[in-house]
Parts: sequence; C-alpha cells; structure tokens
Amino acid sequence: MQEGSVVDYDGLIPNNVGLKDDARVRRALETWHPGYIDWWMDMGPDGFQDALVYLRTAVGIDPEGWAKFGFVRMPEYRWGILLALPQADRTIAFGHHKGEPAWQEVPGEYRAMLRRLLVIQGDTEPASVEQQRHLGRTAPSLYDMRNLFQVNVEEGRHLWAMVYLLQKYFGRDGREEAEALLERRSGHQDRPRMLGAFNEATPDWLSFFLFTTFTDRDGKMQLAALAQSGFDPLSRTCRFMLTEEAHHMFVGENGVARVVGRTCEAMRQAGIDDPADVERVRALGVIDLPLIQKKINLHVSLTLDLFGAEISTNAANAFSAGLKGRYREDKIDDDHRLVDSTYPVLRLEDGTIREQQVPALSALNMRLRDDFIADASGGPRRWNKIIEEAGFPFRLGLPHVAFNRRIGEFAGLGADPAGRILPDAAFIAEREKFLPNDADNRFLEGLMRPEHRPGQCAGWIAPPKSGVGGKPGTFEYVRIEG
Ligand SMILES: [Fe+2]
Ligand SMILES: [Fe+2]
Repeated sequence: MQEGSVVDYDGLIPNNVGLKDDARVRRALETWHPGYIDWWMDMGPDGFQDALVYLRTAVGIDPEGWAKFGFVRMPEYRWGILLALPQADRTIAFGHHKGEPAWQEVPGEYRAMLRRLLVIQGDTEPASVEQQRHLGRTAPSLYDMRNLFQVNVEEGRHLWAMVYLLQKYFGRDGREEAEALLERRSGHQDRPRMLGAFNEATPDWLSFFLFTTFTDRDGKMQLAALAQSGFDPLSRTCRFMLTEEAHHMFVGENGVARVVGRTCEAMRQAGIDDPADVERVRALGVIDLPLIQKKINLHVSLTLDLFGAEISTNAANAFSAGLKGRYREDKIDDDHRLVDSTYPVLRLEDGTIREQQVPALSALNMRLRDDFIADASGGPRRWNKIIEEAGFPFRLGLPHVAFNRRIGEFAGLGADPAGRILPDAAFIAEREKFLPNDADNRFLEGLMRPEHRPGQCAGWIAPPKSGVGGKPGTFEYVRIEG
C-alpha cells in the first residue's frame, strides 16, 4: 500500500502521516490540542458550540474518502492531519535547485525562510474563524449557517496542517510558533494577526460571501504557489488543503450569486428599471447592486494588499531557494529560474500609472496577483450573467489595482475604482461612491435578521438551488439546541 493512503482514525488526531509511530510529534500535538480547543471555544462560532451541525469530515484523501457527512458538535470535530499522496521521484521544479530531488527534511540554509512562510500562512487560518465568529447569529438560513461552520472547521484544520509542519520539522522553535498562532487575535490592538485583511471585521453575510470569494481565493493562490515547494511535506499539505479551499470559494461565489439573483427578482416584481434607484430598491428589503459593487471594491482592495509589495526580494529569495513557486509552475514553459527574464508591472511614475518591465524574479508577487485577478474575474462574470438575464443595465466588476491600497506602489493614492488618479479633494468627496459608507453599513446591519427555521431563507437572498450532500430544501442542517 502506498505511503499516506490510509488515514488512521484510532488516536486523538486522525492522520495519514504515521503519528502512531512518531511519539515526539504526537506528544507535541497532543500538548498543543487543549490550547487549540480553548481557542476554538473562545474564538470559534459564537453561540453554536453545542449545536449539531451537518458537516463533512475528511476520512480519506481520495475524492470519495473525504466527503463523509454527519451531525457533529463543532468542538468534537475530528481535525486531522492529511497530506496528499507523495509523487514518486518528485524533483524540485524551479529555482537554484531545479532538477534535484525534492527535500523530505528542511534544508538548513532555508530554515528561517521556510518557518516564516509556514507561520504567515498558518496565521491566516484561525484569523478568518475569529473574523466570522458572530455570523451564525444572523445566518439567512440553516443551509448558509452550515456552510459557514464547514468553512470554519476547515480553516481550523488548515491551522492544524501548518502546526504539524512546524512541530514536526522545527523542534522547539516550531512549538513556540504553534503556541503563538493561538495567541494572536484578529483585530486585537496589541497582538493582531499578521496580515491586514485578517484584522478587518466581517460584520455581515455579504462581507462573508465576498471574503470567501476573494480572500479565500488569495489563500488558494498562496497554497498553489506553496504546493510547488521543493520541501515535499509542504507541497503535499497544500495540495490537500486546496481541495478544501475550492469549497470555500464556491460558498462565496454562490452566495453572492443568490444575493444578486434575489435583488434582480425583487426589482423586476416591483417594476424598478434603474438599479441606481437605491432608496426604492432598499425599501424592498434587498441589497442594491451599487452597494454590492462597493463591497466588492472593499474586499478586493483589501485582498490585493495580501500579495505584498510589487517589487519584493523576499519573494525572489523564496523562489530561488525552491520554497515557493509560481501559480501552476509546472505548467509554465520557461527556464523556471528567471535569471534573465522580465515581467510587466504597473508602477507610479511622475503621478501616472505606467507599465514597466522589471526583473521577473523581483516581480513574483505581481505575477501571483495577476493570476489572482484572472481567476477572480470569474465571479463578476457569473454574477453579471444573472443581471443581464434580468435585463438591467448594470455590470459588476473588480476595481483597479491602484484603488484603496495600503501596501505597495499605490498605497495611499487617491485613485478611483477605474484607476483614475483624482486630486485629493475630489477623491475625498467621491469616496462614499466607491466604498460602503455608514448609511450603507447600517442598512446591511438592519437586513441581517436570522432565519433559523428549516427550509426558510431571509428575504434578501435567494434560496440555494440544491442542498448539501443531496439533502432536500427542508433539511435541518443545524440543530441549534444540539
Ligand atoms: Fe484555509
Ligand atoms: Fe479557506
């Protein structure tokens, strides 16, 4: 039988990494476990820790094996350590070590760099659970509540995935990092999470759907780049995580599609032709399309900051070291070393945004950001079809990369969502047209009234087209009383 193909469910921690025979790492994880559960009880879904939730648990790593559904209380969820199967004779696909056998142990010279990559990735996982912890209380349906909790437990598992690598390969340093991952808190003044977007609030369900559409997609891009890693355990870990990430983006994109669909339907029924007639649309109890666009502007710009600075020596070093590749590195047709090649990057030059050719190695963040934008544009494309079919002259889109940025070349620049640089006064005057203002947020908050009856759905979102695991529309996905 192939290494890793059997998942051991007998111990405390389900795994396919042979924990049974690895007393040192098993002890480290078992020592970490109570702190994790404390964190989950404090910072996980507020008010639903005793509820029975119809969740999918990974019980195998093959496509059939991991879709096992059943009712679980979240604190009793079997968070496991699951790596994709090893590929025989895998070699490093890029950088200085291209062509050498993939590493099964951490190369000493890259230890610090690799640890940093794991910690940054690991820190995002619990952060999103913290950001989403109040949303159960305002869930628009039990179906949506269940999807939220599924995403949450999987983000918890992703934390386990990174903690395993830290504890297995980084000894004492790794154990300290694993503790610190439980100590930082999203939005906390003194010990915030490491990256900006993970310290923002997720106050309403439209935010949740946009977060999972766009910010989880940043996760997908980062994991895809790390899945190329020459450090084989990281590659295998990320390959399995990517299968879960796809579901998070489905929840997001589908959620927004249902919001857009419901808005269009309500407008048509009321005979409203102009999507910009915000007051009349809101009076129907649905979210106007211009507000959906503002929320897209916000979430996309926050997410773009996660890709870091346009020109980055850290990214160049991680690539040359063979630790972090490009998106679909193995499908790219070039020398995979990038010593002499260039890449086009948008830069601010004498007050205008211009494309510049820069050394490709230093522009790897940008390349990943461009791949993200290409991938993310599928969301608006799909949502626009719904608007078009309903006959409204309105299109959703991604904002320009220069809009509302805090990191990199365009940080603090007063550019509008089309990428036009406005004089300061004009930008301040127009800002409320581009981003949700207080009135918008109050409106959304007012809409977020829970619908916890089986088979029912809040009025601002269309019911799902199909259930989870083939269940009918009336299925009680969450038994709130437990
Ligand atoms: Fe994740
Ligand atoms: Fe995710």
